[in-house]
Amino acid sequence: MKGVLLAGGTGSRLRPVTRVTNKHLLPVYNKPMIYYPLQTLIDCGIKDIMIVSGREHAGHFLSLLGSGKEFGVRLVYEIQDEAGGIAQALGLAEDFADGGRVAVILGDNVFEDNFRADVDEFEGGSAGAKIFLKEVPDPERFGVAELKGDRVVGIEEKPKAPKTSYAVTGLYLYDNRVFDVIKSLKPSSRGELEITDVNNAYINKRGMAFAFVKGFWSDAGTFESLFRASSLVRAKERKF
Ligand code: G1P
Repeated sequence: MKGVLLAGGTGSRLRPVTRVTNKHLLPVYNKPMIYYPLQTLIDCGIKDIMIVSGREHAGHFLSLLGSGKEFGVRLVYEIQDEAGGIAQALGLAEDFADGGRVAVILGDNVFEDNFRADVDEFEGGSAGAKIFLKEVPDPERFGVAELKGDRVVGIEEKPKAPKTSYAVTGLYLYDNRVFDVIKSLKPSSRGELEITDVNNAYINKRGMAFAFVKGFWSDAGTFESLFRASSLVRAKERKF
């Protein structure tokens, strides 16, 4: 299975620190943010990874990560010319996926868990897609999943009145139909192709599996969450 790491976007919620560099290159405790999602993919046993970034700072990703040799993986780079959303960025990985399944991770997501067993199971299983949920105190900041029994029945993107406190984290496993789903999407009210619409398409076809994240998880796209992600990593590294 191949991996796709999405590191586009303008980082508008982190201005002015993202004025001259990319959000995903900012430090989370003692490493550049992008190291964490990259390591999550590597820990899944994934060897081929595409990094999709915006054009402004693409060279910085290359300088930092190079061929991937240092990490024992092969990295390739793709450019998302304009910020058209997470699903649009994933669509750029169609040729790279080469008909196979993909593990997709957002460049600002920091996970403690190892997902290798989930990826192995997904690779040989019948589910079309799999998402990972985490109970959070502030679900309105995320995609929020509604559950019925052992099924996800819908996801709402940043709802004002969330139906549950289960955030959809930024790790997604998809079969190759994801690229057809993306082609059928229409831009949302903020003019972007939403990953939540991709996930709802799988949910409507009853092909969506899910699991809960056990260890800590944080995004790092706002000052508060960036600080939180740094604290969580620091606590783990120093074993407080
Ligand atoms: C994105 C997704 C959202 C998801 C979140 C996880 O939001 O749209 O569904 O819950 O990532 O980090 P963004 O951080 O781009 O606003």
